[in-house]
Amino acid sequence: MGIRARLVFIMGVFSLIATLIIGGATYKLTERNAIIEARQKGQLLFNYIVSSRKYFKNYQRALVLELVEEDRFYPELMSGFVVNRGIWDVFKENHQGYNFKQATLDPLFPANKADKDEVRIIDAFRKRSDLKKQEGLVEKNGEKLFYLAFPIKVDNKGCLRCHGDPLNAPKDQIEIYGTENGYNWKYGDTVSAYVIYVSIHEAIKDAKRTAGILFLIGIGCFFLALLAMGFFLDRHVIQPIEYLSDRTEEISRGENLGESFRHKANDEIGVLAHAIEHLRLVMIRKQKR
Ligand code: HEC
Repeated sequence: MGIRARLVFIMGVFSLIATLIIGGATYKLTERNAIIEARQKGQLLFNYIVSSRKYFKNYQRALVLELVEEDRFYPELMSGFVVNRGIWDVFKENHQGYNFKQATLDPLFPANKADKDEVRIIDAFRKRSDLKKQEGLVEKNGEKLFYLAFPIKVDNKGCLRCHGDPLNAPKDQIEIYGTENGYNWKYGDTVSAYVIYVSIHEAIKDAKRTAGILFLIGIGCFFLALLAMGFFLDRHVIQPIEYLSDRTEEISRGENLGESFRHKANDEIGVLAHAIEHLRLVMIRKQKR
């Protein structure tokens, strides 16, 4: 293989590897940014949910309890969890790509039932009581989601009025939710988790597209650079070397000794040309003797 072919081959392989690395790194960076953004959005949403729940608990519920007859229970007015769920259902109508769930091992409301991934999250909270938050990536229905999760503990004996023995639960509650599920929780147990999902599906798709475009641009640029290099090599290295080797052959045979030559460029080929010119002059002197 000639110098030109070898150089173009080596450079081609290196540029392919370089563009692959650039494309891959771009993909990873974009994915990382998407996760950081999803985390910020999820945290913001969660802070808002917790704040509205706190407001409900501190200001509204006490008032409602005063106004509602004893023994009556209206979940929409009196349960922070129902209020959270209801507000989220409204929010969801106009905001795709987000989800919020009060995922529970054994819930009163069936849709709150934790799925397989959520059971794993709740189990981790149960095993480590110092764990206050979990986050990660999951795939649901073929969609890649970032999740943030926070534990829900039965931290108040009052919870057991409605989640303990169904015999003690408000009759309104039993009428709506029955007595099958959502009872016999234990004080101090972590039974549930707030889980916020933020879709990073679009962001990942964008990351792939950006990486692909950069890869193609990189390949295009390297191809042009290779063409330029091939052209330069041909003109300034290969052709002069071929010419010089022809001349050296001639000189060695004693032919065309009168024809002088010069290589103008002040480079390695110039040095070689100078040496061959010197050889030519030596040969002329030899012939004259
Ligand atoms: C007066 C009754 C009542 C009390 C007291 C109560 N809850 Fe509930 N809770 C409910 C009802 C009713 C639901 C059903 C929510 C729905 O329809 O989404 C519920 C739902 C929940 C859920 C969502 C899972 C599910 O069961 O559907 C969690 C978690 C929860 N409660 C935790 C608690 C904790 C912790 C306490 C104590 C701090 C507490 N609850 C106190 C009535 C109560």
